[in-house]
Amino acid sequence: MRTLTPTGIATAADISHWRSEFPIVETCTYLVSHSLGAMPRKTADYLQEFADMWSTRGVRAWHEGWWEAGRETGNLLAPILGAPKNTISMHQNVTVAQGIIASCFTYGGPRRRIVMTELEFPSNHYLFEGFRRYGAEIVYVPSADPIRLDVQRFLDAIDEHTVLVPLSLVLFKSACITDARAVIEKAHRVGAHVILDVYQGAGTVPMDLEGWHADFAVGGSVKWLCGGPGAGYLFVRPDLAATLKPAFIGWAAHESPFEFATGPVRYAGNPERFQSGTPNVPSLYSARAGYEIVASIGVPAIRRRSLMLTRRLIDAAMAAGYRLNTPTADHERGGSVIIDVPNGMAVADELIRRGVIVDYRPGAGIRMAPHFYNTEAEIDHAMATLAEIVSSA
Ligand SMILES: Cc1ncc(COP(=O)(O)O)c(C=O)c1O
Repeated sequence: MRTLTPTGIATAADISHWRSEFPIVETCTYLVSHSLGAMPRKTADYLQEFADMWSTRGVRAWHEGWWEAGRETGNLLAPILGAPKNTISMHQNVTVAQGIIASCFTYGGPRRRIVMTELEFPSNHYLFEGFRRYGAEIVYVPSADPIRLDVQRFLDAIDEHTVLVPLSLVLFKSACITDARAVIEKAHRVGAHVILDVYQGAGTVPMDLEGWHADFAVGGSVKWLCGGPGAGYLFVRPDLAATLKPAFIGWAAHESPFEFATGPVRYAGNPERFQSGTPNVPSLYSARAGYEIVASIGVPAIRRRSLMLTRRLIDAAMAAGYRLNTPTADHERGGSVIIDVPNGMAVADELIRRGVIVDYRPGAGIRMAPHFYNTEAEIDHAMATLAEIVSSA
Protein backbone atom coordinates (compact mmCIF):
# COMPACT_ATOMS: atom_id res chain seq x y z
CA MET A 1 0.00 0.00 0.00
CA ARG A 2 1.22 3.52 -0.84
CA THR A 3 2.18 5.59 2.16
CA LEU A 4 1.60 9.32 2.11
CA THR A 5 4.48 11.52 3.16
CA PRO A 6 3.13 14.29 5.38
CA THR A 7 3.72 17.47 3.42
CA GLY A 8 2.28 20.94 3.79
CA ILE A 9 1.23 23.18 0.93
CA ALA A 10 3.66 26.04 1.52
CA THR A 11 5.84 25.66 -1.57
CA ALA A 12 5.39 24.93 -5.28
CA ALA A 13 7.09 21.56 -4.66
CA ASP A 14 4.47 20.73 -2.00
CA ILE A 15 1.64 21.60 -4.38
CA SER A 16 3.19 19.54 -7.12
CA HIS A 17 3.56 16.61 -4.68
CA TRP A 18 -0.15 16.76 -3.83
CA ARG A 19 -1.17 17.19 -7.46
CA SER A 20 0.55 13.92 -8.22
CA GLU A 21 -1.78 12.24 -5.67
CA PHE A 22 -4.93 13.39 -7.56
CA PRO A 23 -4.85 11.99 -11.11
CA ILE A 24 -7.71 14.08 -12.50
CA VAL A 25 -5.93 17.40 -12.00
CA GLU A 26 -3.41 16.44 -14.69
CA THR A 27 -6.20 15.95 -17.25
CA CYS A 28 -8.25 19.15 -16.91
CA THR A 29 -8.63 22.37 -14.89
CA TYR A 30 -10.53 20.88 -11.98
CA LEU A 31 -12.36 23.70 -10.18
CA VAL A 32 -15.39 21.88 -8.82
CA SER A 33 -14.39 20.62 -5.35
CA HIS A 34 -17.54 22.21 -3.83
CA SER A 35 -19.43 19.54 -5.79
CA LEU A 36 -17.15 16.50 -6.20
CA GLY A 37 -13.65 16.68 -4.78
CA ALA A 38 -10.92 14.98 -6.83
CA MET A 39 -10.26 11.30 -6.03
CA PRO A 40 -6.97 10.64 -4.24
CA ARG A 41 -4.82 7.95 -5.88
CA LYS A 42 -4.77 6.10 -2.56
CA THR A 43 -8.56 5.66 -2.59
CA ALA A 44 -8.15 2.89 -5.16
CA ASP A 45 -5.83 1.04 -2.72
CA TYR A 46 -8.37 1.30 0.07
CA LEU A 47 -11.18 0.07 -2.16
CA GLN A 48 -8.95 -2.82 -3.23
CA GLU A 49 -8.33 -3.58 0.46
CA PHE A 50 -12.11 -3.73 0.98
CA ALA A 51 -12.52 -6.06 -2.01
CA ASP A 52 -9.65 -8.29 -0.83
CA MET A 53 -11.21 -8.57 2.64
CA TRP A 54 -14.55 -9.54 1.16
CA SER A 55 -13.05 -12.02 -1.25
CA THR A 56 -10.58 -13.68 1.10
CA ARG A 57 -12.18 -13.36 4.54
CA GLY A 58 -15.88 -13.42 3.62
CA VAL A 59 -18.23 -13.10 6.58
CA ARG A 60 -15.30 -13.05 9.03
CA ALA A 61 -14.53 -9.52 7.72
CA TRP A 62 -17.30 -8.12 9.93
CA HIS A 63 -15.31 -8.97 13.03
CA GLU A 64 -11.94 -8.23 11.46
CA GLY A 65 -12.61 -4.54 10.86
CA TRP A 66 -15.84 -3.91 8.99
CA TRP A 67 -18.09 -3.61 12.05
CA GLU A 68 -15.76 -1.03 13.61
CA ALA A 69 -15.20 0.86 10.34
CA GLY A 70 -17.92 3.43 11.06
CA ARG A 71 -16.50 4.47 14.41
CA GLU A 72 -12.93 4.50 13.07
CA THR A 73 -13.91 6.59 10.05
CA GLY A 74 -15.74 9.03 12.33
CA ASN A 75 -12.63 9.28 14.49
CA LEU A 76 -10.47 10.08 11.45
CA LEU A 77 -12.89 12.87 10.59
CA ALA A 78 -13.31 14.24 14.13
CA PRO A 79 -10.15 16.44 14.24
CA ILE A 80 -11.04 18.00 10.87
CA LEU A 81 -14.36 19.14 12.35
CA GLY A 82 -12.97 20.05 15.77
CA ALA A 83 -15.00 17.28 17.39
CA PRO A 84 -13.95 14.93 20.22
CA LYS A 85 -13.36 11.24 19.52
CA ASN A 86 -16.31 8.83 19.44
CA THR A 87 -18.91 11.50 18.66
CA ILE A 88 -19.44 10.85 14.93
CA SER A 89 -21.57 8.15 13.32
CA MET A 90 -21.49 7.46 9.59
CA HIS A 91 -24.59 7.40 7.34
CA GLN A 92 -25.43 7.34 3.68
CA ASN A 93 -25.96 11.09 3.32
CA VAL A 94 -27.01 14.33 5.02
CA THR A 95 -30.71 13.64 4.59
CA VAL A 96 -30.51 10.36 6.49
CA ALA A 97 -28.43 11.98 9.26
CA GLN A 98 -30.93 14.88 9.58
CA GLY A 99 -33.81 12.39 9.64
CA ILE A 100 -32.22 10.54 12.56
CA ILE A 101 -31.87 13.78 14.52
CA ALA A 102 -35.39 14.89 13.70
CA SER A 103 -36.63 11.54 15.02
CA CYS A 104 -35.20 12.35 18.47
CA PHE A 105 -37.81 15.08 19.08
CA THR A 106 -41.58 15.44 19.29
CA TYR A 107 -43.61 18.10 17.54
CA GLY A 108 -47.01 17.94 19.24
CA GLY A 109 -46.42 20.34 22.14
CA PRO A 110 -45.81 24.10 22.33
CA ARG A 111 -42.14 23.68 21.33
CA ARG A 112 -42.65 22.57 17.74
CA ARG A 113 -41.12 25.19 15.45
CA ILE A 114 -38.30 24.37 13.05
CA VAL A 115 -36.56 27.58 12.01
CA MET A 116 -34.61 27.71 8.73
CA THR A 117 -33.32 30.31 6.32
CA GLU A 118 -34.81 30.56 2.84
CA LEU A 119 -31.23 30.18 1.58
CA GLU A 120 -30.86 26.62 2.89
CA PHE A 121 -29.94 23.64 0.73
CA PRO A 122 -33.28 22.34 -0.70
CA SER A 123 -33.23 18.84 0.81
CA ASN A 124 -33.08 20.37 4.28
CA HIS A 125 -36.40 22.08 3.50
CA TYR A 126 -37.91 18.96 1.94
CA LEU A 127 -37.09 16.71 4.91
CA PHE A 128 -38.42 19.02 7.62
CA GLU A 129 -41.52 19.93 5.56
CA GLY A 130 -42.45 16.25 5.98
CA PHE A 131 -42.54 16.72 9.76
CA ARG A 132 -45.58 19.00 9.48
CA ARG A 133 -47.61 15.76 9.59
CA TYR A 134 -46.29 15.18 13.13
CA GLY A 135 -47.26 18.71 14.18
CA ALA A 136 -44.08 20.64 13.31
CA GLU A 137 -44.44 24.27 12.30
CA ILE A 138 -41.89 25.32 9.70
CA VAL A 139 -40.63 28.91 9.82
CA TYR A 140 -38.67 30.14 6.80
CA VAL A 141 -36.73 33.29 7.66
CA PRO A 142 -36.45 35.55 4.60
CA SER A 143 -33.26 37.28 3.60
CA ALA A 144 -33.44 40.48 1.56
CA ASP A 145 -29.84 39.85 0.52
CA PRO A 146 -29.75 36.66 -1.63
CA ILE A 147 -26.12 36.03 -0.63
CA ARG A 148 -26.25 36.37 3.16
CA LEU A 149 -28.23 35.19 6.12
CA ASP A 150 -30.10 38.08 7.76
CA VAL A 151 -28.52 37.27 11.13
CA GLN A 152 -30.65 39.53 13.32
CA ARG A 153 -33.90 38.41 11.72
CA PHE A 154 -32.80 34.79 12.03
CA LEU A 155 -31.89 35.17 15.71
CA ASP A 156 -35.22 36.92 16.41
CA ALA A 157 -37.12 33.99 14.88
CA ILE A 158 -35.63 31.53 17.40
CA ASP A 159 -37.72 31.50 20.58
CA GLU A 160 -39.21 29.29 23.32
CA HIS A 161 -41.39 27.58 20.70
CA THR A 162 -38.37 26.50 18.65
CA VAL A 163 -37.32 22.88 18.78
CA LEU A 164 -34.71 22.71 15.98
CA VAL A 165 -32.65 25.15 13.95
CA PRO A 166 -31.07 23.48 10.91
CA LEU A 167 -28.46 25.85 9.45
CA SER A 168 -25.70 25.55 6.84
CA LEU A 169 -22.33 26.77 8.04
CA VAL A 170 -21.50 27.75 4.44
CA LEU A 171 -24.46 28.54 2.16
CA PHE A 172 -24.34 26.37 -0.97
CA LYS A 173 -25.41 29.05 -3.45
CA SER A 174 -23.18 31.92 -2.36
CA ALA A 175 -20.45 30.27 -0.25
CA CYS A 176 -21.24 32.80 2.50
CA ILE A 177 -20.19 31.69 5.99
CA THR A 178 -23.03 32.05 8.48
CA ASP A 179 -22.62 33.17 12.08
CA ALA A 180 -23.09 29.69 13.56
CA ARG A 181 -21.84 30.68 17.00
CA ALA A 182 -24.39 33.47 17.40
CA VAL A 183 -27.17 31.10 16.31
CA ILE A 184 -26.05 28.34 18.71
CA GLU A 185 -25.84 30.84 21.57
CA LYS A 186 -29.36 32.19 20.93
CA ALA A 187 -30.81 28.70 20.48
CA HIS A 188 -29.29 27.55 23.77
CA ARG A 189 -30.64 30.60 25.59
CA VAL A 190 -34.20 29.58 24.66
CA GLY A 191 -33.76 25.80 24.93
CA ALA A 192 -33.61 24.98 21.19
CA HIS A 193 -31.06 22.80 19.37
CA VAL A 194 -29.03 23.67 16.27
CA ILE A 195 -28.19 21.21 13.49
CA LEU A 196 -25.21 22.63 11.63
CA ASP A 197 -24.91 21.42 8.05
CA VAL A 198 -21.14 21.70 7.64
CA TYR A 199 -20.99 20.04 4.21
CA GLN A 200 -19.77 23.09 2.27
CA GLY A 201 -17.17 23.90 4.92
CA ALA A 202 -15.68 20.59 6.01
CA GLY A 203 -12.14 20.30 4.65
CA THR A 204 -11.76 23.93 3.62
CA VAL A 205 -13.05 26.09 6.52
CA PRO A 206 -11.58 25.49 10.01
CA MET A 207 -14.18 24.31 12.49
CA ASP A 208 -14.45 23.86 16.23
CA LEU A 209 -17.67 21.96 16.88
CA GLU A 210 -16.63 21.28 20.46
CA GLY A 211 -15.65 24.88 21.24
CA TRP A 212 -18.82 26.22 19.59
CA HIS A 213 -20.93 23.88 21.77
CA ALA A 214 -22.64 22.64 18.61
CA ASP A 215 -25.50 20.25 19.37
CA PHE A 216 -25.51 18.41 16.06
CA ALA A 217 -23.55 18.60 12.84
CA VAL A 218 -24.16 16.79 9.58
CA GLY A 219 -22.30 16.64 6.30
CA GLY A 220 -20.90 14.39 3.63
CA SER A 221 -17.54 13.50 2.13
CA VAL A 222 -18.18 14.10 -1.55
CA LYS A 223 -16.92 17.68 -1.67
CA TRP A 224 -13.85 19.25 -0.01
CA LEU A 225 -13.04 16.07 1.92
CA CYS A 226 -12.38 14.18 -1.34
CA GLY A 227 -13.97 11.09 0.20
CA GLY A 228 -16.56 10.13 -2.43
CA PRO A 229 -20.26 9.36 -2.08
CA GLY A 230 -21.97 7.34 0.65
CA ALA A 231 -19.96 8.61 3.63
CA GLY A 232 -22.32 11.07 5.30
CA TYR A 233 -21.72 11.84 8.97
CA LEU A 234 -23.54 12.90 12.09
CA PHE A 235 -21.89 14.57 15.09
CA VAL A 236 -23.82 14.70 18.36
CA ARG A 237 -22.58 16.61 21.44
CA PRO A 238 -21.62 13.85 23.90
CA ASP A 239 -23.64 15.08 26.92
CA LEU A 240 -26.69 15.58 24.69
CA ALA A 241 -26.28 12.20 22.96
CA ALA A 242 -26.71 10.39 26.25
CA THR A 243 -30.18 11.93 26.68
CA LEU A 244 -31.54 11.26 23.18
CA LYS A 245 -33.61 8.32 21.96
CA PRO A 246 -33.77 8.44 18.17
CA ALA A 247 -36.81 6.68 16.67
CA PHE A 248 -35.20 6.21 13.24
CA ILE A 249 -32.68 3.51 14.15
CA GLY A 250 -31.96 -0.13 13.42
CA TRP A 251 -30.18 -3.09 14.90
CA ALA A 252 -26.76 -1.40 14.76
CA ALA A 253 -28.03 1.07 17.42
CA HIS A 254 -28.57 -1.70 19.99
CA GLU A 255 -26.06 -1.90 22.84
CA SER A 256 -25.57 -5.58 22.04
CA PRO A 257 -26.61 -6.02 18.39
CA PHE A 258 -25.52 -9.64 18.10
CA GLU A 259 -28.00 -10.67 20.81
CA PHE A 260 -30.70 -10.04 18.19
CA ALA A 261 -33.07 -9.14 21.00
CA THR A 262 -36.58 -8.20 19.82
CA GLY A 263 -38.95 -5.55 21.23
CA PRO A 264 -37.79 -2.13 22.40
CA VAL A 265 -34.17 -1.28 21.68
CA ARG A 266 -31.58 -0.97 24.45
CA TYR A 267 -29.64 1.98 23.10
CA ALA A 268 -25.88 1.75 22.58
CA GLY A 269 -23.72 4.69 23.71
CA ASN A 270 -22.53 7.50 21.44
CA PRO A 271 -22.07 7.30 18.47
CA GLU A 272 -23.58 3.87 17.73
CA ARG A 273 -26.98 4.75 19.24
CA PHE A 274 -27.62 6.85 16.11
CA GLN A 275 -26.93 4.00 13.69
CA SER A 276 -29.51 2.42 11.43
CA GLY A 277 -28.70 -0.95 9.87
CA THR A 278 -25.74 -2.58 8.13
CA PRO A 279 -22.96 0.00 7.64
CA ASN A 280 -22.04 1.26 4.17
CA VAL A 281 -18.58 -0.35 4.32
CA PRO A 282 -17.15 0.33 0.82
CA SER A 283 -17.92 4.05 1.23
CA LEU A 284 -16.12 4.07 4.56
CA TYR A 285 -13.03 2.62 2.88
CA SER A 286 -13.25 5.12 0.01
CA ALA A 287 -13.56 8.08 2.40
CA ARG A 288 -10.31 7.39 4.27
CA ALA A 289 -7.66 8.69 1.87
CA GLY A 290 -9.29 12.12 1.51
CA TYR A 291 -9.65 12.49 5.30
CA GLU A 292 -6.02 11.47 5.84
CA ILE A 293 -4.75 13.97 3.28
CA VAL A 294 -6.90 16.85 4.56
CA ALA A 295 -5.88 16.07 8.16
CA SER A 296 -2.20 15.78 7.30
CA ILE A 297 -2.11 19.14 5.49
CA GLY A 298 -4.38 20.71 8.12
CA VAL A 299 -7.51 22.75 7.46
CA PRO A 300 -5.91 26.10 8.49
CA ALA A 301 -3.23 25.68 5.80
CA ILE A 302 -5.88 24.66 3.25
CA ARG A 303 -7.91 27.72 4.23
CA ARG A 304 -4.94 30.06 3.68
CA ARG A 305 -4.40 28.68 0.19
CA SER A 306 -8.13 28.69 -0.57
CA LEU A 307 -8.43 32.36 0.39
CA MET A 308 -5.47 33.24 -1.82
CA LEU A 309 -6.88 31.35 -4.83
CA THR A 310 -10.46 32.59 -4.41
CA ARG A 311 -9.12 36.14 -4.02
CA ARG A 312 -7.32 35.70 -7.37
CA LEU A 313 -10.63 34.60 -8.95
CA ILE A 314 -12.47 37.56 -7.42
CA ASP A 315 -9.86 40.10 -8.57
CA ALA A 316 -10.03 38.76 -12.13
CA ALA A 317 -13.85 38.73 -12.10
CA MET A 318 -13.98 42.31 -10.81
CA ALA A 319 -11.44 43.49 -13.36
CA ALA A 320 -13.62 41.94 -16.10
CA GLY A 321 -16.74 43.61 -14.66
CA TYR A 322 -18.60 40.37 -13.86
CA ARG A 323 -21.21 40.30 -11.15
CA LEU A 324 -20.14 38.29 -8.07
CA ASN A 325 -22.73 36.39 -6.04
CA THR A 326 -20.25 35.57 -3.33
CA PRO A 327 -18.92 37.69 -0.45
CA THR A 328 -15.71 39.48 -1.35
CA ALA A 329 -14.57 39.84 2.29
CA ASP A 330 -12.32 36.92 3.23
CA HIS A 331 -13.88 36.30 6.66
CA GLU A 332 -17.33 35.83 5.07
CA ARG A 333 -16.31 33.58 2.18
CA GLY A 334 -16.06 29.77 2.06
CA GLY A 335 -14.16 27.93 -0.67
CA SER A 336 -16.15 28.83 -3.81
CA VAL A 337 -16.64 31.91 -5.94
CA ILE A 338 -19.92 32.39 -7.81
CA ILE A 339 -19.74 34.45 -10.96
CA ASP A 340 -22.92 35.61 -12.67
CA VAL A 341 -22.51 36.20 -16.41
CA PRO A 342 -25.28 36.37 -19.06
CA ASN A 343 -26.35 32.87 -20.26
CA GLY A 344 -24.44 31.38 -17.34
CA MET A 345 -25.60 27.82 -17.90
CA ALA A 346 -24.45 27.76 -21.55
CA VAL A 347 -21.18 29.45 -20.58
CA ALA A 348 -20.57 26.83 -17.88
CA ASP A 349 -21.23 24.05 -20.42
CA GLU A 350 -18.71 25.62 -22.79
CA LEU A 351 -16.12 25.97 -20.01
CA ILE A 352 -16.53 22.26 -19.28
CA ARG A 353 -16.25 21.44 -23.00
CA ARG A 354 -12.94 23.32 -23.01
CA GLY A 355 -11.68 21.37 -19.99
CA VAL A 356 -12.40 23.91 -17.23
CA ILE A 357 -14.62 21.89 -14.90
CA VAL A 358 -17.10 24.07 -12.95
CA ASP A 359 -20.84 23.98 -12.33
CA TYR A 360 -23.82 26.30 -12.56
CA ARG A 361 -26.68 26.91 -10.14
CA PRO A 362 -29.86 28.75 -11.22
CA GLY A 363 -30.28 32.08 -9.47
CA ALA A 364 -26.59 32.10 -8.49
CA GLY A 365 -24.24 31.62 -11.45
CA ILE A 366 -21.09 29.72 -12.33
CA ARG A 367 -19.51 28.19 -9.23
CA MET A 368 -15.72 27.85 -9.22
CA ALA A 369 -14.00 26.09 -6.36
CA PRO A 370 -10.22 25.83 -6.10
CA HIS A 371 -8.83 23.35 -3.57
CA PHE A 372 -5.29 22.88 -2.25
CA TYR A 373 -4.28 20.96 -5.39
CA ASN A 374 -5.09 23.84 -7.75
CA THR A 375 -2.52 26.35 -8.94
CA GLU A 376 -2.50 30.08 -9.63
CA ALA A 377 -1.90 29.25 -13.32
CA GLU A 378 -5.12 27.24 -13.39
CA ILE A 379 -7.08 30.18 -11.97
CA ASP A 380 -5.63 32.46 -14.66
CA HIS A 381 -6.40 29.89 -17.35
CA ALA A 382 -10.01 29.47 -16.15
CA MET A 383 -10.63 33.22 -16.09
CA ALA A 384 -8.99 33.74 -19.51
CA THR A 385 -11.17 30.95 -20.96
CA LEU A 386 -14.26 32.49 -19.36
CA ALA A 387 -13.39 35.88 -20.90
CA GLU A 388 -12.97 34.29 -24.34
CA ILE A 389 -16.36 32.56 -24.12
CA VAL A 390 -18.17 35.65 -22.80
CA SER A 391 -16.66 37.94 -25.43
CA SER A 392 -17.48 35.59 -28.29
CA ALA A 393 -21.12 35.12 -27.22
C1 LIG B 1 -24.99 22.38 2.25
C2 LIG B 1 -25.45 21.08 1.65
N1 LIG B 1 -26.22 20.25 2.39
C3 LIG B 1 -26.66 19.07 1.91
C4 LIG B 1 -26.33 18.66 0.63
C5 LIG B 1 -26.85 17.35 0.14
O1 LIG B 1 -26.51 16.35 0.99
P1 LIG B 1 -26.89 14.81 0.79
O2 LIG B 1 -26.96 14.55 -0.68
O3 LIG B 1 -25.74 14.10 1.44
O4 LIG B 1 -28.18 14.56 1.49
C6 LIG B 1 -25.51 19.47 -0.15
C7 LIG B 1 -25.12 18.99 -1.50
O5 LIG B 1 -24.73 19.66 -2.38
C8 LIG B 1 -25.07 20.71 0.36
O6 LIG B 1 -24.32 21.55 -0.36
